[in-house]
Amino acid sequence: METVVSGIRPTGNLHLGNYFGAVKSFLQMQNEYNCFFFIADWHSLTTHPRPENIRNSAKTILAEYLACGIDPEKATIYIQSDVREVAELYLYLNMNAGIGELMRTTSFKDKARQMLHIDRVNTAEGDVEKEIFNEGNRHSVNAGLLTYPTLMAADIIIHKAVKVPVGKDQEQNMEMARRFARRFNSTYEVEFFPEPASFHLTEKAVKVPGLDGSGKMGKSEGNAIYLIDDEKAIKKKVMKAVTDAGPTEPNSVKPEPIANLFAMMDIVSTKDTYDYFNEKYNNCEIRYGDLKKQLAEDINNFCAPIRERILDIRSNEEYMEKVARMGAEKASASAAKTLAEVREIIGFRPY
Ligand code: TRP
Repeated sequence: METVVSGIRPTGNLHLGNYFGAVKSFLQMQNEYNCFFFIADWHSLTTHPRPENIRNSAKTILAEYLACGIDPEKATIYIQSDVREVAELYLYLNMNAGIGELMRTTSFKDKARQMLHIDRVNTAEGDVEKEIFNEGNRHSVNAGLLTYPTLMAADIIIHKAVKVPVGKDQEQNMEMARRFARRFNSTYEVEFFPEPASFHLTEKAVKVPGLDGSGKMGKSEGNAIYLIDDEKAIKKKVMKAVTDAGPTEPNSVKPEPIANLFAMMDIVSTKDTYDYFNEKYNNCEIRYGDLKKQLAEDINNFCAPIRERILDIRSNEEYMEKVARMGAEKASASAAKTLAEVREIIGFRPY
């Protein structure tokens, strides 16, 4: 069975866009591949979260993925920082990674630029370079940020994964991972690490629109419906969705905000419901208030069981601990096997 690895950055609650864009395909993959899904808490250190912050966000993600149906008996679900072998492989990969190639990655350049901007605001001109590159403050561009791609490569090749489900924005990091895998092989004249390929989730995945008129659903867009949202919150968000005065000609093309409401309905409602409102639209008899009420109800029907499971799991510390421990054991076993061989290849004594 082929091995799949995917890392999830712990950045808050899952929304419907995450669910239909990624989680749903994870549910399918866990039946077809040897899957490792992990919470990338070491990666999150590049932005210096507080300890309670780290603990809580890892738990939030873990509970929400489990509630969605990621099955710890099928997939190995673990917390990155529980598997220290990853850090050791990261060290070895860094020895053959060039600072030039790392500095040229767009994600690094973008983040460095963002941080530069923050510091321009907060510090006197002239201190900028010192702040950015030298000081250990929370806005500095740290070595962890520079070596983000090496850590990501270590995450993937530690399990000798061949497939990595990621969004389009991760293409350059994936290119680096392949390059570091190849470089290890050629440096030591071995055929050891396979080259991991990305699976693009976004093409096959359903794009969930935002309800604020345009674009897709996203946390940073501020237009997201979270799986944890209760009925009242869902209703409030849906009722606020942008609409227009309604069509004046039969069978008009739907403007984007309206098309988005229908797209959402297509995802969560029955075909009958969709057809009913579509026909009303085409006859110019549509009442958006009715459509939104139905949509809110259907979104709530979809979210309610997941929401209940999230609350259930979150209140069961013992279960979460058990899952985390089981994942850590399985992932560590796989990682230790690779690392033992890596140490031998490089020339270190066995542990
Ligand atoms: N960089 C990925 C993201 O931002 C998260 C990630 C870290 C990851 N390590 C990984 C994804 C390994 C896939 C495989 O989404």
